[in-house]
Amino acid sequence: MLEIVDLSKRYENDVLAVDQLNLTVQPGEIFTMLGANGAGKTTTLMLILGFTEPTGGTARLCGVDVVKNPLEAKKHVAYVSENVMLYGNFTARQNLDFFAKLGGRKHVSQEEYDAVLERVGLEKDAFRRRVKGFSKGMRQRLGIAIAIAKNAEVILLDEPTSGLDPKGGAGFLRLLNDLRDEGKAIFMTTHDIFRAKEIADRVGIMSQGQLRRVISKEETAQANLEQLYMEYIEMPVAAAAG
Ligand SMILES: Nc1ncnc2c1ncn2[C@@H]1O[C@H](COP(=O)(O)OP(=O)(O)OP(=O)(O)O)[C@@H](O)[C@H]1O
Ligand SMILES: [Mg+2]
Repeated sequence: MLEIVDLSKRYENDVLAVDQLNLTVQPGEIFTMLGANGAGKTTTLMLILGFTEPTGGTARLCGVDVVKNPLEAKKHVAYVSENVMLYGNFTARQNLDFFAKLGGRKHVSQEEYDAVLERVGLEKDAFRRRVKGFSKGMRQRLGIAIAIAKNAEVILLDEPTSGLDPKGGAGFLRLLNDLRDEGKAIFMTTHDIFRAKEIADRVGIMSQGQLRRVISKEETAQANLEQLYMEYIEMPVAAAAG
């Protein structure tokens, strides 16, 4: 489970990127966060991951406080970003092995690695190839493979479908569906309203560091999400607060 509690971040340049955010994502739930450029989505993920310190509040991963106990907290989370960090001179298999072990996995068999790589839709002949020749979509697939191999309870994704072709994007969403059914708590940012609506159990709209609106699956089926989104990102903060 992911719990975000009164989380705030004011950068040194005085930008209030995250403003008293409260949100819980349950095991077996996908939460997608929409928001304009600069709304604070990536900063929220950086705070949960302990890559940057909050100026207020905290987050908990499976009950472990990310500020008080950062190393223990990191064991419970996997992260997939738009620009996945990989070692170019390593093959796909070697990257997967390296990061899975870094994430605390021991004694993983070659068969398990290959099964994970296959599951994310990486072509078989790419398993043994160096990653520096990979396309953006291939890197993103390998990124999610690393997250799966780590077997963390909470998965954070920052615009994970941005580099995928339409078929790849659809496959990726099916994969997220399966991970949800396995009980993962999934928190994902995206600019793709259509996809957000399709995949999410709940959709959040973030603007100026605040979570302005949370829309349930039942509501998203009825409402015009695009219109709602426009209303909320353009509304002054005080007006939306009520
Ligand atoms: N390291 C930093 N130092 C100072 N300000 C920052 C830093 N990182 C982000 N910001 C500012 O914080 C605000 C939120 O940025 P953030 O990257 O979290 O937005 P985002 O919602 O992820 O946007 P996008 O959709 O473009 O990815 C922006 O005003 C940004 O300029
Ligand atoms: Mg971002």
